[in-house]
Amino acid sequence: MSETTVALRARLYKLSALPDDLAHSMPASFYTDADWLTGEEDMLRRQWMCIGHVGEVKAPGDFFTTELLGEQLLVTRDRDGDLRVLSNVCRHRGNKVAEGSGNARKFICSYHAWAYGADGALLLAPLMKGSAAFDQSKCSLPEFPHEVWNGWLFINLSNNAAPLASQLETLQGVIQNYHTDDRHLVFMEEDTWACNWKCLFENFMEGYHLTATHLDTLHPITPTRLCRKMAGSDAHTGYHAFYDPAYPPRGPFHEDLSEEEKTNSPMYGVYPNLVVGMATNFTLFMILRPDGTDKVKIRWGVTGLEDAPDSENVHDYVDLCRSFNAEDKEKLETLQVALKSRHYDGGPLAPADFEGCVWDFLKWMATR
Ligand code: FES
Ligand SMILES: [Fe+2]
Repeated sequence: MSETTVALRARLYKLSALPDDLAHSMPASFYTDADWLTGEEDMLRRQWMCIGHVGEVKAPGDFFTTELLGEQLLVTRDRDGDLRVLSNVCRHRGNKVAEGSGNARKFICSYHAWAYGADGALLLAPLMKGSAAFDQSKCSLPEFPHEVWNGWLFINLSNNAAPLASQLETLQGVIQNYHTDDRHLVFMEEDTWACNWKCLFENFMEGYHLTATHLDTLHPITPTRLCRKMAGSDAHTGYHAFYDPAYPPRGPFHEDLSEEEKTNSPMYGVYPNLVVGMATNFTLFMILRPDGTDKVKIRWGVTGLEDAPDSENVHDYVDLCRSFNAEDKEKLETLQVALKSRHYDGGPLAPADFEGCVWDFLKWMATR
C-alpha cells in the first residue's frame, strides 16, 4: 500500500467521524491517485454494481455487452425468458465472444468459432472431439449473480454480496408512488467523461450547483434553494429537488402520486455507481464505471410512462438531459484538471440540503 493510500485512508476515517455541521471534502489525491483507485476497485468488486436496465433485454435473444472493472460481460435474455449475466470471455483461449448489442440465437467466438447459446451453454466447438481435455458440458460461459431492482440490473463480481433489495427498503418507500415498473426504457446511450468516477457521483448527488452551473437549463425547474435532503441509508443517499412553483406542472402524473410528490424529483444514488433523477414524468439514470483515475464510462438512459421513444415528449426530455449533462461534463472535466494540484486539501461542504449527499457518500466510502 502506497504512502498516499495510507494517508488517504487515515484522512477518510478521521473525516467521517466529524459531526455533520463540520462536513468537509477530501484532498485532491482522493480523485487522482492510481494506487488509491486500485484499492477502490477491489472494494467495488465486493459491491452490487449496476450495469444496465432490463429494457435493454426485453425479448428472448436480446443481448448487450459491457465491461466492468476489467470483466467482459454478456447480458442475455435466454429462450426461457430468463435474464443471464455471462462472462463474455470464451472458454477456449479467452477471446471476447460477443460484441455490441442486438438479438441473436447464438454467439460465435470469432477466433476459432466456438458457439454458445444465450444461456451460456457451449453448443459447438469445431474439431475438438479429438482432445481428451475437452468436455463440452464443462465449457459453458460462467454466470455472475445478478439482481434486478426497479428495472436496473445489478451484478456482484465477487459472488458474495448480501441480497440488495432488502438494503434499499427505505429508498423504495420514497419512490414507490412514482412506479418505476410502469416506466419503460425510451433512451440509452454511452459516453466517457474525463473525470474521476466519484466526482460524477458527487456532482449528480448535490443540488448546490444547480443554480450556478445550470442557470438556463435546470435552475428554472429545480433551483438550488429548494433542494431538501432525504434520509440516507447504508445503501443509498438522496435529496428532493423541488420544482419552482412558477414552472408548469410536469405531468403526465401517475395516479398514485401525492400532491407533494408531484412537486419534486427524488434524486438518489444507489452506492456505488447508479445515480437517478426521478422526475414526475421521466427518470434519468447514469451508470458509472471507473476507467482509470481520470475517466469514467457512463451508460445513461431515460425511462418514461410513455412507451414511445420517438414521441416529442421523449425528444424534449432527452434534449434537456443532453444540455445539462454537457454543462456538468464541462465542469467536471475542468475540476479533474484542477485536482492535479498538490495543494488542494479539501474544503468545507455546504449544509445537508445542498451537499449532504456528498457527505453521505464520503462516509459510505469510509465504511468500505
Ligand atoms: S478463443 Fe474463442 S474459439 Fe478460440
Ligand atoms: Fe448538474
